[in-house]
Amino acid sequence: MTNLENDLAKILITREQLQQRIAELGEAISRDYAGKDLLLVCILKGGILFLSDLMRAIRIPHAIDFMAISSYGGTRTESSGVVRILMDLNTNITNRNVLIVEDIVDTGRTLAYITEMLKTRDPASLKICTLLNKPSRREVHVPLDYVGFDIPNEFVVGYGLDYDEFYRNLPFIGVLKTELYAR
Ligand code: IMP
Ligand code: MG
Repeated sequence: MTNLENDLAKILITREQLQQRIAELGEAISRDYAGKDLLLVCILKGGILFLSDLMRAIRIPHAIDFMAISSYGGTRTESSGVVRILMDLNTNITNRNVLIVEDIVDTGRTLAYITEMLKTRDPASLKICTLLNKPSRREVHVPLDYVGFDIPNEFVVGYGLDYDEFYRNLPFIGVLKTELYAR
């Protein structure tokens, strides 16, 4: 066991489960966007591992772009939903079919903000693909078009998700020991 793994209470989603589900999502996206001009928009930093596996599971031509955001205030385990754009897209998304690739939807505030902002740029379509979803925590409704896994209300790390910027490199999703963080 590595030091990082010692900090986990349990593994919630294994590497194999992630890869299996991402293959299914890639198939569904390939079918739904066949013949369309697809642009994947990855939300940094949490979405990078998911994007890199998801795009390899998508069989149709597509472009990728990145947007980096940070949320003001909040705590180390909760976003405030007041989002600051640290790095905007390079791509003009007007008339493009945009699919947002996100790590997790919790209260929904972050994605609600991002989708409202991107809509003002008149994409041909705007959909959301999230690896994880915590339905019990939702405060703002956001329509989720592709969801990897619904998970319970636990703070998770790994596969791109961090606690204070660490644990992103774990190749699976784990639950952090509660004594290691204070909500
Ligand atoms: P929301 O605005 O409450 O939906 O929060 C979304 C963002 O909060 C995500 O993009 C993550 O950066 C972070 N987040 C929410 N829940 C977790 C978690 O369990 N582990 C790690 N980050 C999380
Ligand atoms: Mg994030």
